[in-house]
Amino acid sequence: MSISRRKITVVGAGYVGSSCAQLAASKDLASEVCLIDVVEGRPQGIALDLNQMAAVEGFASRVRGTNDPGDTAGSDVVIMTAGKPRTPGMSRSDLLETNGRVISAVADYVRETSPEAVVIVVTNPLDSMVHLMRARTGFPARQVVGMAGVLDSARFRFFAAEATGTATRDADAMVLGAHGDSMVPVPEHTSVAGVALNALLSAQEIDALSDRTRHGGAEIVGLLKTGSAWFAPAASAVAMAGAILGDEKRLMPSACLLNGQYGLEGIYMGVPALLGARGVEAIVELPLTAEARIQMQKTAGTIAADLETLRDAGLL
Ligand code: LAC
Repeated sequence: MSISRRKITVVGAGYVGSSCAQLAASKDLASEVCLIDVVEGRPQGIALDLNQMAAVEGFASRVRGTNDPGDTAGSDVVIMTAGKPRTPGMSRSDLLETNGRVISAVADYVRETSPEAVVIVVTNPLDSMVHLMRARTGFPARQVVGMAGVLDSARFRFFAAEATGTATRDADAMVLGAHGDSMVPVPEHTSVAGVALNALLSAQEIDALSDRTRHGGAEIVGLLKTGSAWFAPAASAVAMAGAILGDEKRLMPSACLLNGQYGLEGIYMGVPALLGARGVEAIVELPLTAEARIQMQKTAGTIAADLETLRDAGLL
């Protein structure tokens, strides 16, 4: 595979960040993958491990581990994963203030060192963290996007594939709204190899899959007990990075700043977005059922409440 002279920075060398660095490097998405963390030694150790992995796997990307924001300069894409993950019983909103401070600190150096970068935010609570990242960097809205819809749809796709006995990659799904319990799985836009899901499963079965999707993150937190998912979240963020670096114009559900679409304004939320070299190049408005439209308004309400908390804390 050819490699482009590009640079991806991954902020946060926890499980999600380390997996992002591994996937980005092994897919040769960029000549340099910079992994930065505040913990001394950890990003450097992971970088060394990954660079040695290249000998066996044959990828050309070089990974740099660092604690110095200056080393992230000139990034084309920044994947923001730093922050605390959920533990059992916590909602994503419990993380609001703690992770809000982390986002602010990172936004301050990304603005200075990589003013052209497209920033993909993964840190929870996703929708308000991506909002804060954009406000604090002052970047154009197209340059700051949130990863959640790809992950939530991946969960729906797996559950749909499992229920229909088909290959996971043949399932296609659309999940919109906030990355939380109020997210909006859209079964009308979910299919297996082009066959609409409602031709394959009963309404009750589809409802059960939607429900499991809504709680897909919590299901894993409950099993792990000490943290949240990382493989599928990392794969989702790296797929978005690939679409942007390759100018692929992929239609991916992503948290974008709405400007009247879906009847909402000035709020980041999961919607189908066209991802290419400029970041979010367009937002697509799907026809939705009356019920899904009501759910979109409800889910927006949960995000607005989180933004209010951030304002009260003086972070926004
Ligand atoms: C999840 C976390 C990353 O959905 O929000 O697994």
